[in-house]
Amino acid sequence: MTDRLNPSPDVRPLEVCVLAAGMGTRMKSSIPKVMQPLCGKPLLSHILDTIAGLEPSRVHVVVGPEGESARKQFSDRNINWVTQHERRGTGHAVAQAMADVSAGSRLLILVGDAPLIGHETLRALTDQESDFSLLTVLLEDPSGYGRIIRDAAGQVSGIVEDRDASMAQRAIDEINTGIMCVDANRLAGWLPLLGDDNEQGELLLTDIVTLAREEGVAVTVVISEDPLEVTGVNSMDQLVMLERALHVRLARRLLTEGVYIADPERFDCRGTLICGRDVRIDSNVLFEGNVELGDGVVIGTGCCIRNSTVASGCIVKPYSVIDDCSIGKSSQIGPFARLRPGTILAESVQIGNFVEVKNTRVGSGSKASHLSYLGDATLGHDVNIGAGTITCNYDGTAKHETHIEDSAFIGSNTALVAPVKVGESATVGAGSTITRDVEPGALGLGRGRQRNVPNWKRNK
Ligand code: UD1
Ligand code: CA
Repeated sequence: MTDRLNPSPDVRPLEVCVLAAGMGTRMKSSIPKVMQPLCGKPLLSHILDTIAGLEPSRVHVVVGPEGESARKQFSDRNINWVTQHERRGTGHAVAQAMADVSAGSRLLILVGDAPLIGHETLRALTDQESDFSLLTVLLEDPSGYGRIIRDAAGQVSGIVEDRDASMAQRAIDEINTGIMCVDANRLAGWLPLLGDDNEQGELLLTDIVTLAREEGVAVTVVISEDPLEVTGVNSMDQLVMLERALHVRLARRLLTEGVYIADPERFDCRGTLICGRDVRIDSNVLFEGNVELGDGVVIGTGCCIRNSTVASGCIVKPYSVIDDCSIGKSSQIGPFARLRPGTILAESVQIGNFVEVKNTRVGSGSKASHLSYLGDATLGHDVNIGAGTITCNYDGTAKHETHIEDSAFIGSNTALVAPVKVGESATVGAGSTITRDVEPGALGLGRGRQRNVPNWKRNK
């Protein structure tokens, strides 16, 4: 209860309860709904990140019996996990957490399937000096949501679920976001009074609005200005629509910052993208994780770039895949290059088509222009790797390293059997299988000699 000497509601600690036990039946998936990924992270993760900013004194998450995967994934967070063994509705879900909610606190209730709720909106809701504040939104298409019923004076008098609504009620465009902040003591009194006399036969949290009214507790309303932030994910269709909307929103923001994006509708970023000036991104490029593009970087169509840094002046030609790499300035990659984790390129490096690079450092000005595999290798500067060169880094048991020093020239179709070293300015003849180190400046040849048989008659 509030302190008599200091009646400000702010003295009541804020606790949060996230409802995440729903079956997600409409998703038709074996993954619990709140664990479905949106822009590369689970729905629940989006919400937990947002509420962390409110610094609540406690966070309760209600999960179903199969909530083990969520518990595991978020084991590093300070969460009170509550299991709702039988899913009997949102009201029943909150009731499961009540035993752990401190008396005298305010409980901010969130639905686990509305992942984009914003910090500012939640602040506005928790800043209300009332025992019951409700977040609503006006939607062009309110179908599927609970409708807000207001009396003649404009006060909220109830919430009617879509399936229980009359034709007239269905026309109401103000809907319940499922997000509310309620005095915990009041809530504890109302929850046991909920009945299941509705179309779904569930204990509906929304019915507490009527109970509040009966007790003369006014429901204050905050109306969200952004339908996207309160959009609930109930089906795969809604999940991908939300994801698309997020990509487009980010693309538009980047456009305002001067990044050229050929087609915002064909731009995907599941993570964070930081761009310098005059960056150009062609259509159908996918970014994941944390990606940084320096000034003047050009990304061709169809590229996938994940957790990587591409320094200024680089050109990444179409259909290249770059994962966990650092690419030095003015380098040229692709088309059809695959740079795997641990690839570190210095400046002005060229990696051409059908070249795979893994856990390899490449010095400045070095080139591998066609059809090669460089794995667990270190290349100095100005090295030339001929077409078809392979570092044979794996002997079936362990991985071994290849060292190629500055200005070495590796002829085409060479197999470098690691561990092996090619010294500075050494040359390896085309078609060689190199099993021993090549000294600096030397020519390494490891191939059968050619023999010509004159006047050879083919079998008829
Ligand atoms: C709910 C609201 C509806 C609102 C909409 C906003 C109720 C009765 N209805 O409807 O007014 O417009 O959200 O998106 O509250 N959950 C549990 N245990 C249960 C049932 C649900 O934890 O027994 C969780 C779900 O995981 C979900 C949330 O509660 O995260 C909402 O449940 P859902 O079934 O999606 O409710 P809606 O029909 O969308
Ligand atoms: Ca929902």
